[in-house]
Amino acid sequence: TEHSEQIPGQADGPEVRRGLAGVVADVTAISKVDPETNSLLYRGYPVQDLAATQPFEAVAWLLWHGELPTADELDAFRATEREHRPLADDVRAAIDLLPVTAHPMDEVRTAVSVIGAREAAGLTALEAAADRAVNLERSVRLFAALPAVVAYGQRRRQGLRPVAPRDDLGFSANFLWTTFEVEPDPVVVDAFNRSMILYAEHSFNASTFTARVITSTLSDLHSAVVGAIAALKGPLHGGANEAVMETLAEIGSADRAAAWLDDALAAKRKIMGFGHRVYKHGDSRVPTMKAALDTLVEHYDRPDLGALYDALESGFVSRKGIYPNLDYPSGPAYHLMGFDTPTFTPLFVAARVTGWTAHIMEQQATNSLIRPLSAYVGPERREVPRTSASA
Ligand code: ACO
Repeated sequence: TEHSEQIPGQADGPEVRRGLAGVVADVTAISKVDPETNSLLYRGYPVQDLAATQPFEAVAWLLWHGELPTADELDAFRATEREHRPLADDVRAAIDLLPVTAHPMDEVRTAVSVIGAREAAGLTALEAAADRAVNLERSVRLFAALPAVVAYGQRRRQGLRPVAPRDDLGFSANFLWTTFEVEPDPVVVDAFNRSMILYAEHSFNASTFTARVITSTLSDLHSAVVGAIAALKGPLHGGANEAVMETLAEIGSADRAAAWLDDALAAKRKIMGFGHRVYKHGDSRVPTMKAALDTLVEHYDRPDLGALYDALESGFVSRKGIYPNLDYPSGPAYHLMGFDTPTFTPLFVAARVTGWTAHIMEQQATNSLIRPLSAYVGPERREVPRTSASA
């Protein structure tokens, strides 16, 4: 493949797969990404069908358990989720220690660290790794706690007081309520719910693989999620939805897209929200999220943003033949809903924590330490000079 190479000067040395491109690192029963048919299945179900019919809570359950919940299971799960929604005092105190200009991904990473330390207090590192039953409970509590963390971050930046969760609302509606303190509109709730489902899981992407590497050392679930958040923060991965919005703001309007693209490509800039390591003919999740964005453009009466979106997409596809990924429609969708731009990647965390924790439990069940090899290209063996400064 384009990413594999021989080591310079070592013609019969091992083949190096930079970026592990094309490497099949393990098996998984959680999701299937098929780049040929542009399809994504969670536990066998097409993601676009789940997004059109299911609440995000049911998809979280599906990822963890392998089957959709029965009505009773969903009710019980939702009751537990509601119980663990309020922002905990220790988490709030830790976030308040951070500068108000801190990136919200740093707030979310810190919050998970605090929750992890609390849950593993008094345990040895090996005991903290725990078993599947304990980790399932931890996953549910973390899933339930994250919206309040994300909402608190945005409100803190805006100088607003936190809003208590509402037991009469499902996960997505409550997320919007605690962020904006406005009765959530069903059209917006539906678009948000779809985005959460589309972001939930995507096999061995960089953050999920990071979580599996950490889990493979028998570290605990929260440590693995902290590492996954750190990997997701980068603009080549989750940080792209945030960068998309900055790009759209920089271009300003549809009529400026073509000239902007010519300059950006001449300067060899990467256009965020386009391209994918796995999908080379289009990201399977984009049509569903683009349809949700279209409803939001209409709901908020922002045809200008819709036109800018289309102009950048068609301009880039015709120039480079590289298609949008999920971050391209989700960035402007979150913007229209009222989230501030740095909050976009934390929203991705709130969704992907379901996939991460499913993979953490799968890794634990079939564990083998993840430890690849490297090909050395530094200096040959040599003597330490005798004249070096003495110790
Ligand atoms: N803008 C400009 N050129 C691009 C882009 C882009 N967004 N994506 C790929 N290319 C070009 C590369 O420059 C490269 O060109 P070259 O062969 O002339 O050097 C060629 O296409 C192949 O790209 P690679 O970077 O080798 O592909 P890879 O599989 O390593 O990268 C990646 C995938 C990292 C996602 C890349 O497409 C990218 O940087 N995109 C922008 C960031 C982004 O949107 N990330 C979100 C990923 S999806 C998600 O997290 C939901």
